[in-house]
Amino acid sequence: MPAIRVRDLRKSYGAIEAVRGVDFDVSEGEVFGFLGPNGAGKTTIVEILEGYRQRSAGEVEVLGHDPAKGERALRERIGTVLQETGVERFLRVGEVLELYCGYYPRPRPVDELLAITGLEAKRNEVVKNLSGGQRRRLDLALGLAGDPELLFLDEPTTGFDPTARREAWDVVRNLRSLGKTIFLTTHYMDEAQALADRVAVIAAGRILAEGPPDELAGRDAATEIRFTPPAGVALPDLGAGVDVTVDERGVVARTKEPTPALHALTGWALERGVILEGLTVTHPTLEDVYIALTAEAATSGE
Ligand SMILES: Nc1ncnc2c1ncn2[C@@H]1O[C@H](COP(=O)(O)OP(=O)(O)OP(=O)(O)O)[C@@H](O)[C@H]1O
Ligand SMILES: [Mg+2]
Repeated sequence: MPAIRVRDLRKSYGAIEAVRGVDFDVSEGEVFGFLGPNGAGKTTIVEILEGYRQRSAGEVEVLGHDPAKGERALRERIGTVLQETGVERFLRVGEVLELYCGYYPRPRPVDELLAITGLEAKRNEVVKNLSGGQRRRLDLALGLAGDPELLFLDEPTTGFDPTARREAWDVVRNLRSLGKTIFLTTHYMDEAQALADRVAVIAAGRILAEGPPDELAGRDAATEIRFTPPAGVALPDLGAGVDVTVDERGVVARTKEPTPALHALTGWALERGVILEGLTVTHPTLEDVYIALTAEAATSGE
């Protein structure tokens, strides 16, 4: 049984159709990444799964429950880090954590929550005095208070400094190694690439593509070989299936078969004693694929 099962999910806010027929499954123990532009419908879907919003139509199952029923038995098994949170501003960090731990039958110890999120030194600080990134770390600690089986993270590392982001990634990896299921919404492609077993790209309320990040990034993709054009030498013919052009950054050869193309290129250079300055070989990243996919969706009138 999947941890999350969604079929033909729809949600309208008055005349706005925010979610337009979405299907996906999240397996137990998986990190599932949800990517999409502002207003794509991510938070709407996450909050329907968490039981904070009601769906307009479709089927939703979370750990075998319908979240719309608001059952305590489900709430105790899930943890949430909302995109926007309103933690009690005048309480101390340690007090807020103790308060939240009190809501759950088997909470994680407060010391552990502080250690996991690097907030030990802020235990006695009043919440309103925390920096933006520290507030977000507290949100993460609160999401973990009930030691959830399934954790929803809606843009958990927004506002984190680079070190804190890496630390948060380690937290997610640790949770995954404990067998927890994680539903992660993010605008950071490197975060999705680093953490997610599978990602779904959503735009205008529809899923555009879904799969392991490396597979998505590899989708129909040509490898790019770049170098600075050597002065006074005509460019080589790298064979059929290699598209050689020149742009503002230099020569770019695009091919789905980089091995023979590189062989031809370096052979040509060695033969003539030509140095290929700035030689790089790159494959499109998840970010490149994301930009292309969501641009397509934007121009197809959505
Ligand atoms: N409570 C609401 N009432 C009316 N419209 C809403 C409400 N919540 C969301 N919407 C609309 O639904 C659409 C999807 O919003 P949602 O917050 O789900 O997007 P998102 O993918 O999470 O975006 P972001 O990346 O900016 O967080 C938007 O057009 C938004 O304006
Ligand atoms: Mg959102």
